[in-house]
Amino acid sequence: MGEPIQALKKQINLLRGWPSPSFLPSEALKAATVRALSDPAVSVPGLQYGPDPGLRPLREALAAWLSRFYGGVPDPERICITGGASQSIANILASFTDPAVTRAVWVAAPCYFLACPIFEDAGFGGRMRAAPEDEQGVDVDALDKRMRRFDEAWERECPTDPDRVKKLRHRKLYRHLIYLVPTCANPSGKTMPLPRREALVRLARRHDALLLADDVYDFLQWPLDPPPSASSPPSFPSSPPPVSFPPSSPNLRLPRLSDIDARLPRREDEVADPARFGHAISNGSFSKIVAPGVRTGWVDASPAFSYGLSQTGASRSGGAPSHFAAVALWEMLRSGDLERRLRHVIVPALRTRHARVAAAVDALLVPLGVRTRRSSLLGADVYGGYFIWLALPDGVEAEAVARRARDAEALIIAPGELFEVYGDEASARFGRELRICFSWEEVEDVLEGVERLATVVKDVKEGRVPVNECSSAAGSLENAK
Ligand SMILES: Cc1ncc(COP(=O)(O)O)c(C=O)c1O
Repeated sequence: MGEPIQALKKQINLLRGWPSPSFLPSEALKAATVRALSDPAVSVPGLQYGPDPGLRPLREALAAWLSRFYGGVPDPERICITGGASQSIANILASFTDPAVTRAVWVAAPCYFLACPIFEDAGFGGRMRAAPEDEQGVDVDALDKRMRRFDEAWERECPTDPDRVKKLRHRKLYRHLIYLVPTCANPSGKTMPLPRREALVRLARRHDALLLADDVYDFLQWPLDPPPSASSPPSFPSSPPPVSFPPSSPNLRLPRLSDIDARLPRREDEVADPARFGHAISNGSFSKIVAPGVRTGWVDASPAFSYGLSQTGASRSGGAPSHFAAVALWEMLRSGDLERRLRHVIVPALRTRHARVAAAVDALLVPLGVRTRRSSLLGADVYGGYFIWLALPDGVEAEAVARRARDAEALIIAPGELFEVYGDEASARFGRELRICFSWEEVEDVLEGVERLATVVKDVKEGRVPVNECSSAAGSLENAK
């Protein structure tokens, strides 16, 4: 009997969507925490229950920082501190949806798959629908048609019983929810251009839908460098130039859906919004710009929406989530440490990683017929986030590749099926796609992973793979993201 492959080869995990340990700011967080605990004016309120909408100084600092990045006038009333993007989705669903009123949750497909269980928990099992994407993100016209058809059926078959509807103060129940990652999406890497964003906001207003945008990769973007000319020695990617903050290219800081909703005049064919909750919110997170373990994020939305979110029962009882972490993050933000690390550590490292991994994909996978996206935003030289999305050649199934990669190469990769919308898989299939993450493993290991993947794609393509009866590749999903 041969030795199991795991004993022969080091496992490489390109499925896990975590930051590299080298991105984690232990020293900066330690300094921020010591400063916070050394001053009773900060430590006492920081160790008590926090105000429902979160630590006021952090809300102010965030509003100022976000407005430097995205433009606009800083308004702390728009900010509600959350326990990170995931927990925030759960609270938004608790406060602004009700399966008796909210007809469906439309999920941009391919989707961030771990959002689906949050929708299930909130009562939307069986009522998630794919919002298919094209090269520019959500196909708004197709979504509009699907929503209209859905509404017609709903109005025929599912009259709402008013006695079963949640009665919540300071909040409203939306008729639909649309979930997406508009910038450097997980998993596709795509960024939606401005006209698409505007069209989506218009659609949300017409259907009284809430656009819930996970804007967790917006700060992790960089310009793509021109390939070095044949005559000059390549200076990149070993030492990329620093990235300015806010970025000089408008392509790197498109307005969020929430910014567009706040600025775009309302039209007559759009649902009235007398209490001004709006139809788009930005769900931000410190997970990718500081560390996932801080479990802190923010919602940037209309003041009415942010206040309503702060009135979610769990926040009224416990105060804002992650309150002490919020104090340390405020210290990191006001001292400039957060921005310095982003500018000098995290973004340059991701940029170098991406350049090297994209070059390896071009050299090893593209000749095998694998297709990939060069830029996050069509027509612009920008990339961002953690992921590269690959389309396999005809006849090569992602599930077979992922299984073979795991069993023969100790390589863990995410097959496209993982990113199909729960319960509506048939509407947007990804059986030929794969996602690889370039942020977690050391870059030399990511490169080795691409090499191993090329071997597997070749083997599967040329039919050299024994029929394998064992479990599906999605077995290796613990701690994925
Ligand atoms: C699109 C998206 N949303 C949310 C999360 C989780 O965010 P948080 O750690 O803030 O809960 C992730 C993590 O990978 C993600 O990619």
